[in-house]
Amino acid sequence: MSSKYMPLSPENFKTQAEFVADQFPVNEQCMYLNHAAVAPWPKCTSEAVQEFAKENCQTGAQGYLTWLKKEQSLRSKLAKLVGSKNEECVALVKNTSEALSIVAYGLEWQAGDIILISDDEFPSNRIVWESLAQKFGIIVKQVAINAQHPEAEILAAINSKTDKPKMISVSAVQYASGIKLNLEKLGLACKENNVLFCVDAIQAVGAMEFKCDEWHIDFAMADGHKWMLGPEGLGFFFVKETHIKKLKLYQYGWHMIEGAGDFSIKDWQPAKNAKRFECGSPNMLAGYALEASTDLLLQVGLDNVAAAIEVNHAYLLAKLQGLGAEILSPIEPNVRAGILTFRFSGINSAQLYQKLMANDVVCANRGGGVRFSPHFHTTKESMDKAIRTLSNLIT
Ligand SMILES: Cc1ncc(COP(=O)(O)O)c(C=O)c1O
Repeated sequence: MSSKYMPLSPENFKTQAEFVADQFPVNEQCMYLNHAAVAPWPKCTSEAVQEFAKENCQTGAQGYLTWLKKEQSLRSKLAKLVGSKNEECVALVKNTSEALSIVAYGLEWQAGDIILISDDEFPSNRIVWESLAQKFGIIVKQVAINAQHPEAEILAAINSKTDKPKMISVSAVQYASGIKLNLEKLGLACKENNVLFCVDAIQAVGAMEFKCDEWHIDFAMADGHKWMLGPEGLGFFFVKETHIKKLKLYQYGWHMIEGAGDFSIKDWQPAKNAKRFECGSPNMLAGYALEASTDLLLQVGLDNVAAAIEVNHAYLLAKLQGLGAEILSPIEPNVRAGILTFRFSGINSAQLYQKLMANDVVCANRGGGVRFSPHFHTTKESMDKAIRTLSNLIT
């Protein structure tokens, strides 16, 4: 027996809106504006997990061969989601931090090598490089990014004749401000200057079209629990084909070898593809969940998802401006993504955040303000309710 879960299709519904409404009952329960933290699951994901749980309960791992096929199809769908033609370049990892560590401890470093990050990275994309600084004497350089010219300082460093970084490692979208970087521009500059390009993609993948191949990305990673609408604890690690064998390995086990599953192999070799970064048993339960979420995003289409997020962002922005909020996120459409951070003069943002949460407006306290992050499924009704609640709390 194997899981009966079949991907849903918008064709089964009269309209796309009806399909989306059916998939996201969360919008009936609360005002969910927190996809930049941990997203709610669509119904199909919840059903996939329930089916898998039922199967485990009734027949255990009798269908393990089917599970293995699922594991592979997930890699292939994730490759599609991140714009890689080659599923061999995608590994399943525990989270973003694990993948960043695989890169950091897989590359060869020399004292004095420079790694460039922004001055507002999420700790995972700073701490790992600082750990290298302590061990190998590399230099972690932080540059400011601002909404007017987000890539300017990074490009200047890439083009520098004297202090050229060996690698830049940046978030595609900054977790606090929401500034979106032009990865195409950065990737091209990196390629032309022989600089490695590593992208923490967790605030972007699932919210917009992402193009690892086209943007010359060397490494990209994200856990599945934000814009990808999946569970915590399972994500992807994209590694450009030419780097797969160059990264030193430091985690070993039965699953990462060529011919994994044949326990009689004595003269083992690491897998030729990115599976070499997956040392042991996969997280099958999370795999079923993430595949369902990925199917949904691919069915809706990342261009449609991004357009709907933009509409929701613009709607909330206008309402917040109407309430007199100071907007801390960029307002220029080409520099903004799903994140909208704001504050009110004379009002403590941490307290406001707590009051919003107590009133079913699910959001975050980040970047010196309150952070709203709607996804494509977020309804106008729930945004209106959130704004009404906010308005009552500040007056
Ligand atoms: C930019 C960024 N990177 C990484 C993470 C999380 O890392 P991990 O997947 O290792 O938990 C977050 C979570 O908020 C984030 O915003």
